[in-house]
Amino acid sequence: MKEQLAKIRAEALSAFEGIRDAAALDELRVRYLGKKGELTALLKQMGRLTPEERPVMGQLANDVRAALEKALEDCSAKLEAEALTAKLQAETLDVTVPGKAVKQGHKHPMYFALDEIKDIFVGMGFTVLDGPEVELAELNFDRLNAEEGHPSRDWSDTFYFDRDSRVMLRSQTSPMQVRAMDTMSLPIRIIAPGRVYRKDEVDATHSPMFHQVEGMVIDKNVTMADLKGTLNLLAEQLFGRGTVTRFRPHHFPFTEPSCEMDVQCHKCGGAGCATCKGEGWIELLGAGMIHPNVLRMAGIDPEEWSGWAFGMGLERTAMRRFKIADLRLIFENDIRFLEQF
Ligand code: PHE
Repeated sequence: MKEQLAKIRAEALSAFEGIRDAAALDELRVRYLGKKGELTALLKQMGRLTPEERPVMGQLANDVRAALEKALEDCSAKLEAEALTAKLQAETLDVTVPGKAVKQGHKHPMYFALDEIKDIFVGMGFTVLDGPEVELAELNFDRLNAEEGHPSRDWSDTFYFDRDSRVMLRSQTSPMQVRAMDTMSLPIRIIAPGRVYRKDEVDATHSPMFHQVEGMVIDKNVTMADLKGTLNLLAEQLFGRGTVTRFRPHHFPFTEPSCEMDVQCHKCGGAGCATCKGEGWIELLGAGMIHPNVLRMAGIDPEEWSGWAFGMGLERTAMRRFKIADLRLIFENDIRFLEQF
């Protein structure tokens, strides 16, 4: 038995030496120290020994067990340390490697144009307002003097949310005129940029969603001359000195008289080309003197106060400002296009 113990000890210790991973180590543990292991099997034979031999062998067996357990522990500690070193090496960071450049977006040309427009109007004492895109038909139409049956209220032109045609995606920024009259004290000078929605098919000059900038002044003795002066100044500051504009009579339910303002085409200088569809002019905005009915509905006395308003297409303005030929470029957000500005 003594020899068997010595043999187990020698075999086990040399086996532990060669161990390279935790699974193999566990196998060895089971083989030598487990309940069905070689050492246990040997100890079960103690009963056959003489009473004198038993304590001696018992002591010897305990020594062997202790030696094996120690070897197991050492080996396991060694494996853990190796694993840690390997992990640290594998995860080494080279802090001197140059970083990957983060690709930044680019400001949209329409927002360059909008910022210029805001600057121009803020410089003239206007306040910039923001308002809801989901609007009441009451503010988008009724309060703007567009009574039931007005063609623009038609379901084929307007995105409504309900059967009663009461809630809609605003089709113009003009309801902001009403919101300003309802909440601000006179005199008022505001612009209100934002998205508007109409049931239009997408083409080179149309989109079901586009942007407008509304502008409005209400004060005493305000005339059409103020409107023209302000809009001419806007055109010169946006598009450069000497920019030629033209005012044409038009009709809007909420202004009287009404007009549209064109700027001379930047492509052909007025001769007529593809960009201006042969017209020589590009339509930029609708405007006019606020209709007395609109003032009255807001509780403002048209005998005492007068005002003007305009609504300009922001995409068109950006296209004219940056000489962009197709509206779709504005919405596609191709970075190669955007980076040119
Ligand atoms: N809301 C008009 C449109 O969308 C533009 C406009 C605004 C006209 C203000 C007159 C006064 O066409």
